Amino acid sequence: MGLSKARAHTNIALIKYWGKANQKLILPATSSISMTLAAFYTDTQVEFDDSLAADSFTLDGELQSAKAAARVSAFVDLVRERAGMHTFAHIASVNHVPTAAGLASSASAFAALAVAASDAAGLKLTPTELSRLARRGSGSASRSIFGDMVIWHRGTDDKSSYAEPLAMNPQLDLRMIAVVVDDMPKSIGSRVGMQRTVATSPYFPAWVTANEAAAREMQTALTAGDMPTVGALTERSAMMMHASTMAANPPFTYLQPVSLALFNFAAELRATGLQVYATADAGPNVKLLTTAQDAAAVLQQVQAKFNVKAVMSGPGPAARIID
Ligand code: PMV
Repeated sequence: MGLSKARAHTNIALIKYWGKANQKLILPATSSISMTLAAFYTDTQVEFDDSLAADSFTLDGELQSAKAAARVSAFVDLVRERAGMHTFAHIASVNHVPTAAGLASSASAFAALAVAASDAAGLKLTPTELSRLARRGSGSASRSIFGDMVIWHRGTDDKSSYAEPLAMNPQLDLRMIAVVVDDMPKSIGSRVGMQRTVATSPYFPAWVTANEAAAREMQTALTAGDMPTVGALTERSAMMMHASTMAANPPFTYLQPVSLALFNFAAELRATGLQVYATADAGPNVKLLTTAQDAAAVLQQVQAKFNVKAVMSGPGPAARIID
């Protein structure tokens, strides 16, 4: 028992997770596949301290309200339960996401917290156990335990729903460009958005069937090093996810006109011979999947055409203890 510090990188899904089969355990309705990013990460330190009467949580140096700390505390409770302890902790997180990159940080946040809190509590968890634990904080965090390309198997219970590294053809040297069209906090969080889609969208069952098939096709394409298929499946999974929210009741969408303009621009760039494919998550920002060879040209073209910030990243490493 003591003090531990961990670093976890964020990830962007090529095959999306959208919708839960079990809310409490965060079991997803579909499997998902993501790329961990080198450029964006969270550092979290956890120190259990017998003199504390409650957990304290600081984010980027600022003490957070009891309400903001509640989700973090509930997660640390899972660790305490497992370690058979009752001690409260100081939790301090710093997000290293370039200013206004507009990337969700819950994946890197809960992956770093899972690694730091379990280590500080003296638990020796395997990467699979860490992935299952991180999943309970935020579904996408299960994937940030691992580096490079990762698959999260949807599973059927707590034990079978975990992420693991996905082998891919070394000829695929992928890059991701995060295009910032809006850095406002999202209006409908992913938790609520998913719930509404599951409960009311007539497209939801179709999404589950089609996305599960896309996950299998993606594995074949990644093994083959087939970039056009990897890219096409990436765009399609994103579009299917967003279509499912548009058919919810009441309907909603995370995409703005400029988001769609970027999807169209990716198609225009492909027509000139560049390998670039668009994806978007629970917000209007677009991420462009491209290759090491084409990344600089894509970045330059996007910035020439749109008045936006864009940040490029290569694949990043697994979550780990630092210091
Ligand atoms: O883990 P959450 O609850 O932040 O959900 C993330 C869902 C998406 O980012 C929209 C898709 C994904 O697979 O990451």
